[in-house]
Amino acid sequence: MKYLVVLGLVAFVFGQEASVPKLDGRIVGGEATSIATYPYQISLQLLSTHICGGAIISSSWIITAAHCVVNAPVPSYLSVRAGSSIRNSGGQVYSVVKVVSHPSYVSTSHDYDVALLQVSSSISTTNANVISLAASGTGPAANLTAVVTGWGATSEGGSAATTLQVVRVPVISRTDCDTAYPLQLTDRMFCAGILGVGGKDACQGDSGGPVVIDEVLYGLVSWGDGCARDDAPGVYTNLQVLRDWISINSGV
Ligand code: ARG
Repeated sequence: MKYLVVLGLVAFVFGQEASVPKLDGRIVGGEATSIATYPYQISLQLLSTHICGGAIISSSWIITAAHCVVNAPVPSYLSVRAGSSIRNSGGQVYSVVKVVSHPSYVSTSHDYDVALLQVSSSISTTNANVISLAASGTGPAANLTAVVTGWGATSEGGSAATTLQVVRVPVISRTDCDTAYPLQLTDRMFCAGILGVGGKDACQGDSGGPVVIDEVLYGLVSWGDGCARDDAPGVYTNLQVLRDWISINSGV
């Protein structure tokens, strides 16, 4: 029974990217990079298969999206690979001992899409390091450059990247993003991308991964309509409004 639930989650997460493999590993509109430059990035794995991204916020805590862990029957089905540019080899793998999903998370609206994962032992491998969390606030200002990393699909409906990818996208104002997603955005979300242009975005498999502005963690990859469409920017979990919840539950 538990296996059915897990297989269902794997099928759900990868259903979008089971089509033709792409030769060139480019996130949507990004480029290959090294974990040495983004040492806070981790690959979240379910039964040793990459399902999502995440970020190291202390030696024992990872932050990711709630939708990435919602169907894991027990924490031990999850593990975290840190310190590797390649999602399925290298670095060090840590088992997850505790999952704290936000109690207000709603799967249909993606509201409060955040979870904290405690790992079994202190993360201390090469090219693994913490990222500072943004202080409490309302969210990043429009036009700031957000750095998004992950091993997600390299095109809408495409296959996942093997090597870590990075893309830079400007933050979009609430007013502008409301026109793309009427009545769908909450205070727990912000948008980034290039409205009217598209071409650069996170995609399936990047979820839970970090959105960093000036070396500070502001968001997590959460959702979007397709990937990199000109009229549908990426939507990110707004960590500034969730700062107190993170601190209460992880001590970070
Ligand atoms: N929900 C997706 C995942 O599980 C991430 C979607 C992000 N989409 C986007 N267009 N930015 O990996």
